[in-house]
Amino acid sequence: MTTTLVTGIGELTTHDPSAPGGAGPFAVVIDGEHVAWTGRARDAPTCDEAVDVDGRAVLPGWVDSHTHLVFAGDRGEEFARRVAGQPYEASGIQVTVDATRAAADDDLAARLRRHVAEAARQGTTCLETKTGYGLTVADEARAARIAAAGVDEVTFLGAHLTPAGTTTDAYLDLVCGPMLDAVADHVRWIDVFCEDGAFDGDAAARVLAAGAARGLGGRVHGNQLGPGPGVAVAVAAGAASVDHATHLTDADVDALAGADTVATLLPACDLSTGQPPPPARRLVDAGVTVALASNANPGSCYTTSMALCVALAVLQCGLSVPEAVRAATLGGARALRRDDVGHLRVGARADLHVLDAPTVVHLAQRPGVPLTAAVWRAGRRLSV
Ligand code: NIG
Repeated sequence: MTTTLVTGIGELTTHDPSAPGGAGPFAVVIDGEHVAWTGRARDAPTCDEAVDVDGRAVLPGWVDSHTHLVFAGDRGEEFARRVAGQPYEASGIQVTVDATRAAADDDLAARLRRHVAEAARQGTTCLETKTGYGLTVADEARAARIAAAGVDEVTFLGAHLTPAGTTTDAYLDLVCGPMLDAVADHVRWIDVFCEDGAFDGDAAARVLAAGAARGLGGRVHGNQLGPGPGVAVAVAAGAASVDHATHLTDADVDALAGADTVATLLPACDLSTGQPPPPARRLVDAGVTVALASNANPGSCYTTSMALCVALAVLQCGLSVPEAVRAATLGGARALRRDDVGHLRVGARADLHVLDAPTVVHLAQRPGVPLTAAVWRAGRRLSV
């Protein structure tokens, strides 16, 4: 197995409490797919090869724990109407459902690959994506299969919207029965959009219970467009995360503070849909584990940029830069209940993100500037 010394690191973020502090330069040793050593460059062991990053900052690759990237079609016209004043509505999902059903498998897979590559070029090394634009047994199974071949983590979101031509009760029977059977081999998670205009709290609890009975972990889209039962349902079901979490009551924050459920915040989505910024400061101060994710999808938020999410979390939501970086790396890993990514402790998957900047502060100080200089994923250097 080849060992690689990444050295000359000006600022190193490992999320390892025992890592040496103070001034660099620092170094990381990659052995095969994993991190084998981190510390001061002068103490580094000899390796087969060395890469000098010349004083740049190194951090774990982004863990983007919330995207919807199995889709076809385009919603640019909807976005243009939105910026002209029309509110975002969940019913826009049906437009993408129609386009996705009409697309060929190869087209869906190629689009997914393009978006995953786009994210990787910006430092995302672990990515979750969802079904949810099929909404028939065959189309959801196809989306799950395509997603499983293209990303790290796959979530079944059959309960995204009740499709045209059926009732919510009949559709839930399908989601919790034959549709779940058809996707279960390809997915690790089950999700439900718990919101006015989508599914209510009882429906959401039913979907999560059906998934749990098949061994799937739970996730919930909740409290996106207004207050609602999403957080309470997620916490009661022991879901790994509740995503959006924009409109929270004090009871919601208290419930999250006493639970293992991560609050996954999607600030780029809130910006794109005219919602207030998510209450990141309030959640962190209450002791809630917070993740930041892109929510890349063709409707509510068409960006794969985790750096943008970090910048928004700092500039709009009151997090410090280290808090935002932690939420976009370790927080995402917690939301996916993974120990191998989101940090650079010895044994971690060697997912390294080298910034064209001396410190992570530049992520918020230089919003919109592409700052990714190099990326390693599982020990392999990607071309960025
Ligand atoms: O997370 N909230 C529901 N689902 C997506 C939106 C999907 C769409 O508009 O196509 C979201 O924002």
